[in-house]
Amino acid sequence: MNNENQESWNTISKSYQGEKKISLEDVHYGPVTPGERELSLLDDVMGKRVLELGCGGGQNSIVLTKWGAEVVGLDISEIQLEYANILAKNEGVKVEFVQGRMENLTRFNDDNFDIVLSSHAIGYADDLKAVFMETKRVLKPRGFLVFCFEHPIYLTVGPALENGDLREVRNYFDRTRNVWDWICFDGTKATFNQGDWLISEIINGLIETGMQIARIEEPRAYDIANMDVKAISKIPYISEFKNQEYISKFVQVIRMIPFSLIVKARKIRK
Ligand SMILES: C[S@@+](CC[C@H](N)C(=O)[O-])C[C@H]1O[C@@H](n2cnc3c(N)ncnc32)[C@H](O)[C@@H]1O
Repeated sequence: MNNENQESWNTISKSYQGEKKISLEDVHYGPVTPGERELSLLDDVMGKRVLELGCGGGQNSIVLTKWGAEVVGLDISEIQLEYANILAKNEGVKVEFVQGRMENLTRFNDDNFDIVLSSHAIGYADDLKAVFMETKRVLKPRGFLVFCFEHPIYLTVGPALENGDLREVRNYFDRTRNVWDWICFDGTKATFNQGDWLISEIINGLIETGMQIARIEEPRAYDIANMDVKAISKIPYISEFKNQEYISKFVQVIRMIPFSLIVKARKIRK
């Protein structure tokens, strides 16, 4: 069991929520890329029961509640959940936020949710297979999972391209967990430990669990250099422009290679 990520999310939560601008009107699938309004992965959520795994500050859960879903948001970090509860109250919506690990959903009955959503959280899990097995168990028949995580192409070459140093290219085949420091714009720092799953681990994991892949998306970052302030303000997830140089390098790179890999998979059998 990995308590390191829990502690680390507790440590950076305040800085993270302060430096990211995360939409409360659209579901986001990663930085500077199209959200649900443009990609339409979730179908009509009105009246649907949704579980969000790794809900963080609760923004996606809040949006789905506004769109008429009944949502449970689960996260390992009590500080992220504190933020989520305050945000939901401020937005005037009722979301059930619970603390827990996405690898263990025993608190939920079988065949319970129409949709399981997870945005940029599955990479932190200890056991991908357990996440898929538990997700499938709690999904109703024909229910579906939509999740996104850092694209393996980005994880392998993205930071090297941003820093202009090809010695930083990572070995895609290295299966030791990626241990790295997140340094927020205000200097707050924490160490994270990620699985960084291979594409084959994701796809085969879903197939072995008995889930049918329904759609894959690799969204390209918006061309923010050619957008006006109003258009930029509608992007569902973007960093505050405090560190302009880094942001523009990052966006240049994620217009060349995808930052997010989004997968939709349906439960087709018990
Ligand atoms: C990058 S944040 C994403 C939060 C939210 N989905 C969003 O997009 O704003 C990752 C979240 O996953 C949570 N997390 C990490 N490991 C987890 C686990 N094993 N089970 C549940 N949540 C986890 C962290 O606490 C953190 O809030």
